Amino acid sequence: KDITAYTTFGVPAKTALFAEYSSVKELMKIYRSEEFRNNEVLHIGGGSNLLFVNDFNGLILHSAIKDLVRYDKDETNAFVIAGAGVKWTDFVDWCTASGLAGLENLAGIPGEVGASAVQNVGAYGVEAKDVIHTVECLDTLSGKQVVLKNEDCRFGYRDSMFKHEGKGRYIVLHVSFRLKKSNIAEHLDYGPLKNLTESLGHTPTIQETAAEIKRIRDAKLPDPAKIGSAGSFFKNPVVSRYFYQEEMLGRNPDIPCYPVDDHRVKVPAGWLIEHAGLKGFRIGGAEVYPKQCLVIANAADASAKDVIDLSHHIINKVRENFGVVLYPEVNFIDTSIDVTILGSGT
Ligand code: EPU
Repeated sequence: KDITAYTTFGVPAKTALFAEYSSVKELMKIYRSEEFRNNEVLHIGGGSNLLFVNDFNGLILHSAIKDLVRYDKDETNAFVIAGAGVKWTDFVDWCTASGLAGLENLAGIPGEVGASAVQNVGAYGVEAKDVIHTVECLDTLSGKQVVLKNEDCRFGYRDSMFKHEGKGRYIVLHVSFRLKKSNIAEHLDYGPLKNLTESLGHTPTIQETAAEIKRIRDAKLPDPAKIGSAGSFFKNPVVSRYFYQEEMLGRNPDIPCYPVDDHRVKVPAGWLIEHAGLKGFRIGGAEVYPKQCLVIANAADASAKDVIDLSHHIINKVRENFGVVLYPEVNFIDTSIDVTILGSGT
């Protein structure tokens, strides 16, 4: 089956077997099948963080569990439980329009609810982990449904245990979010949001914040409907404050950074790539997206090889120029080396 359309990159991809389910019951049927037992299994979400290096020689699963339930806990808090297959943008738009605060900074991110927990999606000063309460999964080791608490998921920057010890074991069924019944935006510290209060003349509502975030994203990131990409291709590297101050700033006094903790800072990879002279650089159909160099765009029928070659070129140039190694945020799916990978990111 051709699954190119199940990824946002638009790089040609095929799988031997594919199954989609819209309920836990349907998933259990697949789980008990021979296809599941005898094949490598890859569970995908919105396909916004995947690159198929070659054709997938196994079973690809996709959740179409799309239920959405709201529980009002008390005057101030509400829980929303969403199926893993709910489109992330629809989910955020629905919560924001319903006067539930917490997700507005994550508006406009491609992908699905299930993957938001696997990848701990983040943008503009907020990460999914800040609002995820629990994650309900099928534990494929025991065949039982389990509810994992936020701390059980061991969330990190674009990371969770679903990408490490839980990889291949858990299939996300539902994610429960703890939101605030409020229309007032609270997370306005990230660069471009700092001036919003002043420009509006009042504290922004969550609806105004979401609209502003969509505007910023549209100006920087390719529209998935028009240009294929997987969003940020690399993670922003985390380096020691010492290395940043002594080695990096010494030679390039303008390099921006964000604090991580007392000892470390995060450096924007997009800045490093741009200042390594790679803005708009192309290999085959793959391009360093000129408006945000952290993105590799499928500018003209790129093959997986074009994207991989370009990513190697970027890693080498950034290392030569700044002494920093970039690691991909995108998951490379290579059946020839990887065994079982669960979940996709956004
Ligand atoms: N910058 C450049 N040139 C570029 C890109 C960025 O100089 O080509 C500079 C910007 O001027 C700014 C800094 O780098 O000073 C940071 O840029 P930006 O605010 O666009 O954020 P980012 O660090 O490049 C991260 C996330 C994005 C997320 C934004 C906003 C990662 C890997 N990426 O990008 O996430 O939307 O912050 O929060 O953490 C994604 O994961 O797919 C994604 C788009």
